[in-house]
Amino acid sequence: MKTLLLVGATSDIGRAVALEYAGAGWRILLAARDPAAGRRTADDVATRTGAPVSLHALDVLDDDGLAAFVDGLPELPDTAVCVVGELGSQERAQTDPAHARTILRTNFEGPALLLGILAERFLARGSGTLVGVSSVAGDRGRGSNYVYGAAKAGFSAFLSGLRNRLAPAGIRVLTVKPGFVRTRMTEGMKLPPLLTAEPAEVGRAVYTAAEKGRGDVIYVRGLWRGVMTVISLIPEPLFKRLKL
Ligand SMILES: NC(=O)c1ccc[n+]([C@@H]2O[C@H](COP(=O)([O-])OP(=O)(O)OC[C@H]3O[C@@H](n4cnc5c(N)ncnc54)[C@H](OP(=O)(O)O)[C@@H]3O)[C@@H](O)[C@H]2O)c1
Repeated sequence: MKTLLLVGATSDIGRAVALEYAGAGWRILLAARDPAAGRRTADDVATRTGAPVSLHALDVLDDDGLAAFVDGLPELPDTAVCVVGELGSQERAQTDPAHARTILRTNFEGPALLLGILAERFLARGSGTLVGVSSVAGDRGRGSNYVYGAAKAGFSAFLSGLRNRLAPAGIRVLTVKPGFVRTRMTEGMKLPPLLTAEPAEVGRAVYTAAEKGRGDVIYVRGLWRGVMTVISLIPEPLFKRLKL
């Protein structure tokens, strides 16, 4: 039986990914910074799929605890998926450095350091798949969310470098750009239906790309690749005049 480590068990996307793997017969290790909240996902996944599920406490901002967390798991997983992130408030981040730092660390530093440690363990074993959930927001900095976007850009670059380094050793690194997803993070936002996925759609896309496909970077809804290519091509003198 193969094992998945899902980091960010309380997230709607995380729950959907865990359900997808559990339904395919995998053992599930869930990590949450609040184990009591993570318990709901653990019970739900176990009840709905019958898969063996265990729950582990992890705050990805606890740098010193990351290696101990990985080494304390009941086993080294075959695949690790990190969905940890925080949208935060761009407006608040502009005047509150502590808030900006939390956004930067939660979307970049914590997930990157954790996946970096897992990468070394996978390299030593000679197998494994790492999946990082980044964002289209990292494809180009925009006035409305550049703190979050910059952190996701850093995370995407980290995953790209890790992939480049580990590919010859047969370790896969997958970057997932979900586009808009209807979750707690986007609650109350008006989202364009064509560009908005349901969590279950993201769960399926992650499982298929990580376990059945060969891709490196996926946009859950393909339309986003076109949208972000166009946005990336807009020359800076024009881009700075747009309200995005
Ligand atoms: N929803 C979208 O439209 C969208 C679009 C693009 C990308 N994404 C990305 O998809 C991922 C999942 O997002 P979501 O929509 O499911 O939102 P979410 O429910 O807010 O998920 C964020 C997850 O990160 C966890 N987390 C935050 N800080 C943490 C820390 N220091 N240590 C451990 N866990 C921590 C949260 O745990 P707590 O419950 O303890 O806070 C939660 O499980 C995020 O990386 C997000 O940036 C989402």
